[in-house]
Amino acid sequence: MSDPSHMRPLVWERGALRLLDQTRLPQAEHWVTVGSVEAVADAIRTMQVRGAPAIGIAAAAGMAIAARGALETGQPVDVALEHAARTLGRTRPTAVNLHWAIERALQEARNASDAATVVERLDRLVQRIIEQQLTADRALSELGAALLPDGARVLTHCNTGALATGAYGTALGVIRTAHAQGKVAMVYVDESRPRLQGARLTVWELRRLGVPHTLIPDVAAAALMARGEVDAVVVGADRIAANGDVANKIGTYAVALAARSHGIPFYVAAPVSTLDPHTPDGASIPIEERSFDEVRVVDGRPITVTDTPVWNPAFDVTPADLVTAIITEHGVLKPPYDEAIRQAAAAATE
Ligand code: MRU
Repeated sequence: MSDPSHMRPLVWERGALRLLDQTRLPQAEHWVTVGSVEAVADAIRTMQVRGAPAIGIAAAAGMAIAARGALETGQPVDVALEHAARTLGRTRPTAVNLHWAIERALQEARNASDAATVVERLDRLVQRIIEQQLTADRALSELGAALLPDGARVLTHCNTGALATGAYGTALGVIRTAHAQGKVAMVYVDESRPRLQGARLTVWELRRLGVPHTLIPDVAAAALMARGEVDAVVVGADRIAANGDVANKIGTYAVALAARSHGIPFYVAAPVSTLDPHTPDGASIPIEERSFDEVRVVDGRPITVTDTPVWNPAFDVTPADLVTAIITEHGVLKPPYDEAIRQAAAAATE
């Protein structure tokens, strides 16, 4: 962990996943080891691991752990994998990478001659997904950095760095690469209520990387744009529908509206594993709703009437027409998105 450019917050150790616990950052750099399907599912649900690509890696690890457990106990491996797929698949509904990773694991297991082969294949799959994520992050980060002007003042929402991908980062990867090229004057970080991924995680990453940044309350983003202090917005995605509608952290839509109103480009950076050509549009994307207490309680203390009703969607949908471009490792997609997304998703499966 000493070289910030090589931060790997997810480590696969054949049979167990080591995670830098994201619920404890930035106060503590605390690692946990998860070695059962239930423990992986809990880590995803409680957001010890979070961010669409990292959730996918954790899910693949959960499948590999299930296969190993079946081999050791003599249980049929296909039954164990089906059970694990259901358990993991229910954890967080919006990130499509979760289902993508589970499906990849099921495919690897199909046609394997015996349980030991399945275990071997799934071990390798987890490692491969981690390596592919690094390659994808770096490629899309190069493409995205080229879109930013010199001296860029960039606004971002939520956390899309190494913590969120297990590798280099997507939107934050674009910012990292642009910073390495000397192009970034300032990164404005939305705090990203209610779980504060911006304030807790993005700030932690940018500090480690030495990238200049300023934390702002979510509600200040439009005012900052009105003052002419934002040149571009770059965010990540949990799922991109076939028509280019983007599900991402709650508050992203408001940022996109403000960016449009001020003539500021709004970029979405995501690997092709986040494209979902089977979901036609944003209205069809399942949006996770989380505990009321994430809004009612801050740092263990109630900030409102304790039983007040709450609506706490974890994500919102930004319509495709507010998205200037989608930056993937297979190229920068421009509107109209339908055909571009179909082609990028197809290239990914070749
Ligand atoms: O609820 P989270 O923290 O998992 O939400 C994360 C986001 O919304 C990210 O922007 C998205 O997953 C992309 S991470 C590269």
